[in-house]
Amino acid sequence: MANPFHYGTPVAGAQFAGRQQELRALTARMTDGINVVVVSPRRYGKTSLLTKAAAELERAGAAVVQVNVLRCRDLPTFAAQLLTHAYRAKRGGWHRLKHGVPDFLRRFRVVPGVGFDAAGNPRFTFAPTLTAADADSVLADVYALLSELTDKSPAVLVLDEFQAITDLGSHLPGLFKALADEHPRVSLVVAGSKKHLMERLVITADAPLYGTAEHLALDVLPADVMAAFLVRRARAGGKDMQRTVADRLVELAGPVPNDIQHLAYEVFDAAGAVVLDRHVAEGLRLAVEHEAGLHADRFEALAPGQRRVLAQLALTPTEQPLAAAFVRDVRLANSSSVRKALDALLDEELVSLRDGRYRVADPFLAAWLRQGA
Ligand SMILES: Nc1ncnc2c1ncn2[C@@H]1O[C@H](COP(=O)(O)OP(=O)(O)OP(=O)(O)O)[C@@H](O)[C@H]1O
Ligand SMILES: [Mg+2]
Repeated sequence: MANPFHYGTPVAGAQFAGRQQELRALTARMTDGINVVVVSPRRYGKTSLLTKAAAELERAGAAVVQVNVLRCRDLPTFAAQLLTHAYRAKRGGWHRLKHGVPDFLRRFRVVPGVGFDAAGNPRFTFAPTLTAADADSVLADVYALLSELTDKSPAVLVLDEFQAITDLGSHLPGLFKALADEHPRVSLVVAGSKKHLMERLVITADAPLYGTAEHLALDVLPADVMAAFLVRRARAGGKDMQRTVADRLVELAGPVPNDIQHLAYEVFDAAGAVVLDRHVAEGLRLAVEHEAGLHADRFEALAPGQRRVLAQLALTPTEQPLAAAFVRDVRLANSSSVRKALDALLDEELVSLRDGRYRVADPFLAAWLRQGA
């Protein structure tokens, strides 16, 4: 039987746990044309949540356009992606029309190239030489199209990995602000993981999109929700997992949902018909082993002082990394050297501050570091 756990890429259906409140908050705002910014560290489940909310809205008849900004290598590609996804929006109905493509393209001032994928769906493209002004007019026309659709139903533009938008053009945050103001009935949903970048774009008082979007900070799922999910999924996969074993698994790998599902995957694989505590230990060993090369690469890329701080935090998460004892343990000159190393590690999301303690963010990297100690 297939492993019932999944990690690394967005989850849907039975692999998606909890999040009822967040889902309700998000779909209500999407329906009401309210702009939202979703921020969380990597692998908390932003894309899964956005995709589920988008699917719910589409089922209810809304027009949803969802694009991952980080996947677009330049502004012409981004413009082309917006067009392609706008065409596919169920509500628009163009894909059902005989002359859907020309009908659709009549609304745009700049004409794209048209290709077709294996399933016969059109894919729009622009030459890399497309000017920024032309790309901007595509963005404006997509926004206007969504705005027009709000006469009949809600319309939503979802931009995932929005922190990458300035790489495509430093003027884009300002342009989106202007478009959001011009078309208030469209719900613009932006999501991202690099907290400081997202703050600079949307949240702080001098951010270009300040005041346009409601802030939805996505936290991890509660431990009991994840543990109940593990028991349920293990059973669906044909193996029995006691709740105490699930609790132990969540405690070891948590709280990041991706890490919990990753460990659960290995544990499920290691177990027979019944998942026991010793399989949790074995699963952790396997998870560390399978990615040992990656851990070594990440560790090697760090400055020596940062390595010592990380290794020490793997052994003992601490509330006071600037205290004399910690400075001595990591053999740095003084607390400001520790501060500098720590800031770099926090910035790289290798260290996180949780429950008042600094710790290694990735439980598998932490276990790998402890093995070497
Ligand atoms: N609601 C959920 N229920 C169960 N597992 C989840 C849930 N949300 C996320 N996960 C776990 O986290 C993993 C990553 O999810 P997702 O890609 O949605 O996160 P993300 O925040 O978009 O990550 P990134 O910042 O890397 O884009 C999934 O593969 C899954 O293992
Ligand atoms: Mg994502």
